[in-house]
Amino acid sequence: MSHRDSVTAVPPGARVVASSETTPLAAFEDPERGLYAVQFHPEVVHTTNGQKMLERFLHQVVGIEPSWTPAAVIDEQVARIRAQVGAEKVICGLSGGVDSAVAALLVYKAIGAQLTCVLVDHGFMRKGEAEQVVEAFRDHFHVPLVLVQAQDRFLARLEGIEEPEEKRHRIGEEFIRVFEDEAARLGDVRLLVQGTLYSDVIESGGTAGVAAKIKSHHNVGGLPEEMAMELVEPLRLLFKDEVRRVGEELGMPERLVWRQPFPGPGLAIRIIGEVTRERLEILREADAILQEEIREAGWYRKLWQSFAVLPAIRSVGVQGDERTYAYPIVLRAVTSDDAMTADWARLPYELLERISSRIIAEIRGVNRVVYDLSSKPPATIEWE
Ligand code: XMP
Repeated sequence: MSHRDSVTAVPPGARVVASSETTPLAAFEDPERGLYAVQFHPEVVHTTNGQKMLERFLHQVVGIEPSWTPAAVIDEQVARIRAQVGAEKVICGLSGGVDSAVAALLVYKAIGAQLTCVLVDHGFMRKGEAEQVVEAFRDHFHVPLVLVQAQDRFLARLEGIEEPEEKRHRIGEEFIRVFEDEAARLGDVRLLVQGTLYSDVIESGGTAGVAAKIKSHHNVGGLPEEMAMELVEPLRLLFKDEVRRVGEELGMPERLVWRQPFPGPGLAIRIIGEVTRERLEILREADAILQEEIREAGWYRKLWQSFAVLPAIRSVGVQGDERTYAYPIVLRAVTSDDAMTADWARLPYELLERISSRIIAEIRGVNRVVYDLSSKPPATIEWE
């Protein structure tokens, strides 16, 4: 609401309980009728005291008890999932991200081994990512999990392809094929778990709560319309931070709960140019060094995303007495609330230097590291 749209008159019977210079009717109440109102600019909520103001208003003025707890969400969703699923088999694609992981664990809690999770390793994940998911799900939570090693298939599909959207399209298509094969292997499966969040529901203008038929999505984790499976969406009423709290309550490892967003097509859209095995290995190693140093320096949770990019060009360098001709690595780190806009992160020079020196010293094939100082807009977060 802009200042001009502010409410300028109180309802009959109500009295003003707070005012400021710019907002004469900051808050008003009519306790007899149970009416309470507070008005301020939306951006105020993003300041430290904005949240406090809202909380005080809701809890002390209006008298509403804060009843949201991760445990209550879990109980409610477990009951809902059981009612929806009955005795049917359910399949869930894990991406390595927090949403699909929490959705899968909720469903597992509700229906146990009626659920099978599928993790398609397309070869574009970060170093150790697939292993971490397998360790958490199969070894720790004992959730039935099929790991599909499809690296060669995906790489073959990207041969000679440089155009970003064509890469996305081919990866998406191949992903669906692999996933369909796995679903067919499980026999008659009609239900599919999706980690749809409330923010996705709002964006697509849908209503909360009702299971909808599957919609194809730019996200590779999204599956095709033709599959026509009924969706189980236990996160449909949650925001990202709430999903993380539910994940913690379910005992998920900190590394999984707090993972930065990672695009479905993964490292494939962080190699600018054709994706080859050699480039993937270089990028994966560079990314691992970046992540390690960012975590070590206590920056990981402060950043929306941090990653490495490999533009498929070469530049000249010198190492010992030798001239080198090798790839550069671009470091990207941004802060953001929702990925719609983003600001490049002011990482300390010492941290940047450590990352740069390690990448050049430890990875053959890289002789230069640069830092991306662009914000979104006009740049995007990813390079492709
Ligand atoms: P951009 O680069 O458009 O990215 O600023 C905004 C956010 O979206 C993520 N992203 C993707 N996620 N599949 C995904 O699942 C994709 O193809 C894709 N492309 C971008 C990006 O990482 C950032 O968080």
